[in-house]
Amino acid sequence: MAGAGAIAGIAPLPSISRKAAAHAHGPLFGWTAVRAQFALDPSYIHFSAFRFASHPKPVRDAIDRHRRGLDRNTQLYMDDHEFELEQAVLDSGAAYLGARQVDLALTDSTTMGLGILYGGIALRADQEIVATEHDFYPTHEAIRLRAERTGASSRKIRLFADVRTATEAEILDSVRTGVGPSTRVLAITYVHSSTGMKLPVRAIADAVAEINAGRLEDDQIILCVDGVHGIGAEAASVTDLGCDFIAFGSHKWLFGPRGTGVLWGNPSRWPAALATIPTFDGRSLQAWIEGHDPTNLPPAAAMTPGGFHSFEHRWALAEAFDFQSRIGKQRVQDRVHQLATQLKQGLAGLGNVTLFTPMAESLSAGIVCFSVEGYTPREVVDRLLADFRIIASVTPYAFQLARIGTSIVNTPAEVDQAVAAIASLT
Ligand SMILES: Cc1ncc(COP(=O)(O)O)c(C=O)c1O
Repeated sequence: MAGAGAIAGIAPLPSISRKAAAHAHGPLFGWTAVRAQFALDPSYIHFSAFRFASHPKPVRDAIDRHRRGLDRNTQLYMDDHEFELEQAVLDSGAAYLGARQVDLALTDSTTMGLGILYGGIALRADQEIVATEHDFYPTHEAIRLRAERTGASSRKIRLFADVRTATEAEILDSVRTGVGPSTRVLAITYVHSSTGMKLPVRAIADAVAEINAGRLEDDQIILCVDGVHGIGAEAASVTDLGCDFIAFGSHKWLFGPRGTGVLWGNPSRWPAALATIPTFDGRSLQAWIEGHDPTNLPPAAAMTPGGFHSFEHRWALAEAFDFQSRIGKQRVQDRVHQLATQLKQGLAGLGNVTLFTPMAESLSAGIVCFSVEGYTPREVVDRLLADFRIIASVTPYAFQLARIGTSIVNTPAEVDQAVAAIASLT
């Protein structure tokens, strides 16, 4: 992006060889080697790593490098490297996500991406936003705030009666019957952090496309996704998913720098998203200096919130995408699923445990939710921590469950330990 580098007004200086450094290490094959990249305390088992990421070594090193550069000579480090480093983030992100870099808006989190999306997406007075009952707080709250500000109407639909028996057919049926002629936005969540359900996003997108085929462009449904628990756990590219927008923080499953995220938009839908926070893209600033509105500003650049950022983190996002690419998206997905399946099978065999996450890999990813008879979810999580040094979490929803996330920092032996620990509770 001709981003804040252009704001600084000075042409970028030669490369600091970030790419050369990243690729010098080559592919990462062994899971022990992957785990060794993290400084996580080995005396604990970390099953909540997906909530907020620990940084692997290449990301830590990049953050250190940029912090030292900024602390040593802030102005010149910015002037010399800002344009190039932001471009590297977009390049690495595009390569990892299977997207065009011009379609990526850089944000600070999923929440920021959803906030600017639902706050700014163009809606006529007679159009509505339909969300689902299964989305997390930022989706619902962004839509509620939008309604409060503009009077936009919204409602929520339920996609399945019971997560334990849900099927793709039931979900698709709920989508088809849940939207109406005035639905302009359908807001869904890729992997539900309430239950671990992974939605069949591609099939939902296809169902929406069928409905859209009979509509004028301005009346078509725009499919927007909170993708945070899918991106970094699942191998699908953003274009495979077939949605129109997907927002995700890169500080969870991607183990990217804390305080970073991305909003991707389908090129044909970007024009429907109107920015809320002024971008620092140089083309926009230049237009302002010249006294006119920006022209030819790519929509994703316009949607990238401006202001100076914690750039040592933002720029290290390139290393996070490269780290995932070096392991390989499919291998990450296979590992996350293998561990989650092992865990689900173990839990399903315990008499007093109710497993809520679907066993089917087509309807689940790396989040596994369960309850233990005779214990509240909080008690389960507290006992796992106190007695076994196992870090799990409680789902932050009205209906609470105990939750374990199996990620690339975990091993099959750790999963066995978790099953044994939960068995001992029962
Ligand atoms: C489904 C879902 N969306 C969004 C978030 C928030 O993500 P971020 O920290 O990137 O805003 C969470 C959890 O923190 C989540 O579970």
